[in-house]
Amino acid sequence: MGVEELLEGFYNQITYEKIGKELSEYKGVVFCGMGGSGIAGTFASKWLNHRGVKIPAFVIKGYELPPFVDNGYLVVCISYSGNTEETLSNFEEALRRGIKPVCITSGGKLKELAEKNGCEVHEVPKGFQPRYAFGYLLSKALCLVGITPEEMEDAKENLKENLEKIKEEGFKIAERLYGYIPVIYSTPLTDAIAERWKGQKNENAKTPLYYAVLPEMHHNEVMSWNNPSLRNKFHYILMYDEKDYHRVKLRVDITAKLLKDMGIVPIMLKGEGNSYLSRALYLVHLADWVSVKLAELYGYDPMKVDTIERIKQEIKKYE
Ligand code: PA5
Repeated sequence: MGVEELLEGFYNQITYEKIGKELSEYKGVVFCGMGGSGIAGTFASKWLNHRGVKIPAFVIKGYELPPFVDNGYLVVCISYSGNTEETLSNFEEALRRGIKPVCITSGGKLKELAEKNGCEVHEVPKGFQPRYAFGYLLSKALCLVGITPEEMEDAKENLKENLEKIKEEGFKIAERLYGYIPVIYSTPLTDAIAERWKGQKNENAKTPLYYAVLPEMHHNEVMSWNNPSLRNKFHYILMYDEKDYHRVKLRVDITAKLLKDMGIVPIMLKGEGNSYLSRALYLVHLADWVSVKLAELYGYDPMKVDTIERIKQEIKKYE
């Protein structure tokens, strides 16, 4: 299947199923995972926080679990391949602490270890690159923490209805970004989306992309604008959500104004949709199309991630 065909079917990955327990049974939720898998955990924890859940929900992208994570926590290990050593390390550490992690994977060691240790496994279809299975991974993660079928269906329909528009917008943005290093200025409700944009540009288009988050960036990043010779190497994107805190939205406007005063026209991005999830997935899907178009413009294969694979092989030598 070609990459465009794959992306055109993205909305079909968004599916509801009744899994998981009541969150009130837990002290907190921790998602563990790296890269194209870990981002599903980032989104699920953001979604929980936005929903106002009363327990901590966060993501770990590394080898170690924080010391306070005990068997009162729901630990969700997400690895598409099931062979990512950081996620396997979290899994094993959780077992040592008497926790039975819930696993989302297409197979590999994680599935094997989970089954051996009597842990719940939620399998996603095989045969994808992890980042192209984001909809499957995210759906499982959200279902585990209590999304409703209606909210899921709304997000899926929104993607389906807007597919052509998103694709067209994505191609136009890619043309604007070509030749520049994209920098996204995001907000507390869009920083996970900016992270996904970064991953997709890095891996699919072999392009650096950096992001900073408001309001923090108003206390440091803005000073870098004083340096025009470096500033002109970047293309700026401002990304926000209609439900961002009102003072944050004000800061988005101020940022746009200051950039325009310097002669810079930022790309303004706001997701469309009825819910936070629908709007977030709108922008996530936009990132997909921008990244594959940019890959085409630069002449890269959006499927290939040879350096990531090489590093995985290199570190394996030291097991
Ligand atoms: O998109 C990719 O290929 C990577 O970012 C992987 O997701 C990352 O290396 C982790 O691997 P996995 O998703 O199999 O756990």
